[in-house]
Amino acid sequence: MSSVLLIGANGQLGSDLRTRSGVISVTRAELDITDHRRVAEMLRETRPDVIVNTAAFINVETSEVEVEAAFAVNAVAIRNLAIQADAIGACLVHISTDYVFDGAGSVPYSEDAATGPLNVYGNSKLAGEFFVRALCRRHLIVRSSGLYGLAGSSGKGGNFVRTMLRLGKEKGEVSVVTDQVLTPTNTKDLAEMTWRLVDGGAQGVLHVTNSGSCTWNEFARAIFELSGMDVAVHPTDSASTGSKARRPAYSVLSNARLEREGFGAMRPWREALASHLQALGPLT
Ligand SMILES: NC(=O)c1ccc[n+]([C@@H]2O[C@H](COP(=O)([O-])OP(=O)(O)OC[C@H]3O[C@@H](n4cnc5c(N)ncnc54)[C@H](OP(=O)(O)O)[C@@H]3O)[C@@H](O)[C@H]2O)c1
Repeated sequence: MSSVLLIGANGQLGSDLRTRSGVISVTRAELDITDHRRVAEMLRETRPDVIVNTAAFINVETSEVEVEAAFAVNAVAIRNLAIQADAIGACLVHISTDYVFDGAGSVPYSEDAATGPLNVYGNSKLAGEFFVRALCRRHLIVRSSGLYGLAGSSGKGGNFVRTMLRLGKEKGEVSVVTDQVLTPTNTKDLAEMTWRLVDGGAQGVLHVTNSGSCTWNEFARAIFELSGMDVAVHPTDSASTGSKARRPAYSVLSNARLEREGFGAMRPWREALASHLQALGPLT
């Protein structure tokens, strides 16, 4: 394998990507991507052929009020990274999100479907995508959705699975929205597919999620069912959550290109969730 630099190695996806041997992994403490001089130094030192970037400002709610901070990481730093990656001839593999879509659709979004983010986070990620496409000739943008992994997300203080398990245990009941449809995705599966794409030389934009779809409410029910927990999951809607950020009502991504180009199928989200819960073990 050619030399690979993984940025954002402490995140939940980063933690699953870094298990591959031979990868040079850097955490935020080692490389803050908003420090443009340090990025240049790192690329000079490591001369990677492939750069995989998972680093992002991922808190959707905080992004609404810390707009500059979200854009500094998700857009401006990515512009710099794209320019520098191109200058050394590297392929920039950049992770993006289903939140680039407005969610008005009702069938899975293909890679070339029109974008229209509803919130600051989605806009900042879309700006990052534009910079990657415009400024780095060798690039792969991997869009995914509803990530959960063993490491948990520092940017979100955990992830949905952990939050549900904790609330279920503490309160015995939760209220979860029924008006947002997504595909929950296990970061272990996304990491495996990302490496397969890197090895296969995939370029352009690709959607990669587990297969199928559900509402967040159905996702919560599955978490409790598969964990053998008796927790009441009440329906609620987005308008009642008090959230500052608008979210897409339907943000299911189509994996058709992935399958068409021979990279294989992603397993169903429920199956991926079951193996995650098994790996997570009992909540202490
Ligand atoms: N989470 C989701 O549901 C979801 C859905 C779709 C797409 N995505 C995308 O998937 C990617 C990975 O997300 P994730 O869930 O693995 O997030 P995560 O666990 O929060 O990981 C993001 C990582 O980025 C690091 N980071 C933040 N700002 C940085 C900076 N300025 N310089 C260097 N590193 C920085 C964080 O470091 P610290 O640990 O030090 O904060 C963290 O390790 C992101 O691009 C995200 O936009 C996520």
